[in-house]
Amino acid sequence: MSTMVPVLLSLLLAVGPAVSQDTQDGPYSLTYQSSGISEPKEGFSSFQATGYLNDQAFFHYDSKSEKAEPLGPWKQVKGMEDWEELSKLQKARGDFFLKNLRDIMGYYKDTGNHTMQEKLGCKLRNNSYDGSVWTVAYDGRDYIRFDTEIPAWIPLQPEALNTKVKWETEGSVHRTRAYLEEECPQKLRKYLQYSRPFLDRQDPPSASITSNVDPGSIRTLKCLASNFYPQPISLYWTQADSVVETDSWGEGPISENGTYQSWVLLKIPSSDKGPYSCHVQHSSLAQPLTVPWNAGH
Ligand SMILES: *[C@@H]1O[C@H](CO)[C@@H](O)[C@H](O)[C@H]1NC(C)=O
Ligand SMILES: *[C@@H]1O[C@H](CO)[C@@H](O)[C@H](O)[C@H]1NC(C)=O
Ligand SMILES: *[C@@H]1O[C@H](CO)[C@@H](O)[C@H](O)[C@H]1NC(C)=O
Repeated sequence: MSTMVPVLLSLLLAVGPAVSQDTQDGPYSLTYQSSGISEPKEGFSSFQATGYLNDQAFFHYDSKSEKAEPLGPWKQVKGMEDWEELSKLQKARGDFFLKNLRDIMGYYKDTGNHTMQEKLGCKLRNNSYDGSVWTVAYDGRDYIRFDTEIPAWIPLQPEALNTKVKWETEGSVHRTRAYLEEECPQKLRKYLQYSRPFLDRQDPPSASITSNVDPGSIRTLKCLASNFYPQPISLYWTQADSVVETDSWGEGPISENGTYQSWVLLKIPSSDKGPYSCHVQHSSLAQPLTVPWNAGH
């Protein structure tokens, strides 16, 4: 019995990612992030919007160009979206958005330069609706959000009650709910027909170690994993097969080409010759990457 356990464990580890993909599809999300400014600098846009599929930006619109343009690999995709139509839609949204910003400024009796941000979107898991979001912030503070369960607009600032009443009298509650629970998932399903290869892709990390000695004779070892997708990754240091606690870690934003980087730092006395190893685990790798370091290296 006991001899079976390691075999079973290694089998489970080897087939782990495949099993989860067979029994669960996604989650996938479609999110729009928009922002508006009441007094843009000369020559800059007052409204812009970016569409995301999961963590990847797939189009950008701004009120200066009045164009919604595909980004990254979506530049090459044919037939997923009518960009002219989307440009018109975003222009209309931008006008409405800035009108709302002026209304909100009115409720606060604000003048001058103010900003409004909005995040809205929906999520599918196993091809079923799995939640949505619609929140609006004014000058960086949450202002109002939509609750699909009630359904209603929930003011998050006293002044937002005005917005709630206005939008609800205009009859937006049922439209908003139908948008979030039906139209948005439908749109996402359509986009997925064209986008799965980009969203499901597995780009393996490359890993490297750099060493820096500071005047206090502390050596900082930095293990960097780069150019990988998706984002979840595990990085750790070992010395003689035991895990060493890292001093700090960090991660970069998604790059232009849709990949990530992460790092872990280890501080050791400059007299310590090692060896140490950095290990990288990622869904794209059948086995962890191991990069050794020692002082002669
Ligand atoms: C997703 O669907 C598959 C097949 O219909 C099912 O076996 C699995 O349990 C579902 N997963 C979730 C998280 O609902
Ligand atoms: C108004 O604020 C935005 C965002 O903070 C800024 O980008 C813009 O330049 C400001 N406008 C002016 C006229 O300074
Ligand atoms: C992404 O860009 C970096 C440089 O910015 C490059 O080193 C890397 O190979 C690119 N990755 C992919 C998957 O194209």
